[in-house]
Amino acid sequence: MNVFIIGIAGGVGRRVAEQLLAQGDQIGGLVRSSAKGEALARLGVSTTPGDLVAMSVEELADALRGANAIVFTAGAGGRDGPEATDQVDGDGPAKLAAAAKLAGVRRFVLVSVFPEAWRERRMNEDFEHYMVAKKHAESQLVLTDLDWVIVRPSALTNEPGTGRVDLGLAKKHEEITRDDVAATVVEVLRQPDVNRVILEVTAGSTPIAEAVAAMKAYRAS
Ligand SMILES: NC(=O)c1ccc[n+]([C@@H]2O[C@H](COP(=O)([O-])OP(=O)(O)OC[C@H]3O[C@@H](n4cnc5c(N)ncnc54)[C@H](OP(=O)(O)O)[C@@H]3O)[C@@H](O)[C@H]2O)c1
Repeated sequence: MNVFIIGIAGGVGRRVAEQLLAQGDQIGGLVRSSAKGEALARLGVSTTPGDLVAMSVEELADALRGANAIVFTAGAGGRDGPEATDQVDGDGPAKLAAAAKLAGVRRFVLVSVFPEAWRERRMNEDFEHYMVAKKHAESQLVLTDLDWVIVRPSALTNEPGTGRVDLGLAKKHEEITRDDVAATVVEVLRQPDVNRVILEVTAGSTPIAEAVAAMKAYRAS
């Protein structure tokens, strides 16, 4: 596979890249800083310098051309205010989907978030804004005719992966390692019959390949 990753220098994105690379796949991705591009180059990943917000749809399409799948795991991370959250988390996936269409790339895996994340807590305004942006992004992607899969992970940790998850249409929001989210995304890429479905994933006991294979039964129109 030739996979283009938006958010490749991030926690989940770098792990997706490392796992695909270890399995012999080709990887590309967008990086905003040359230092991060150089660090990825040392791992054997060649990246394209660029910013999802600043680039036009046509420029993004040029960057994607030749890939046969896209992973969107970027996020503004609440660091640059609500406008960046809107531009990256909210509008980024639809912009990338438009670029994918232009570039003829059909497979699109979006890393999103549980809508039920921390509903039991009183979260601040920025978090609620982020949740609205993520939901907007999902709604835009499902309206496309691409071969999309949305993977909603529960709260992310940097503990070592277990190779096992609890994956399905509606799960309890708990925690999951970034390693296991990345492995789930990689397995979704490997199983094209898992398509046009929104999946929730959290820590669990089912081997990841098996958990993903069981999702072939579900498919939106
Ligand atoms: N944290 C959680 O508990 C949690 C839970 C569920 C879902 N999620 C979601 O899971 C996804 C992955 O999380 P993570 O922890 O891996 O995120 P992360 O480490 O913050 O990585 C996000 C990546 O997005 C990139 N990015 C941000 N703005 C960009 C832009 N304008 N153009 C191009 N790239 C841009 C960043 O680039 P730079 O490296 O240049 O900064 C970074 O590499 C995110 O979408 C997040 O919202 C997070």
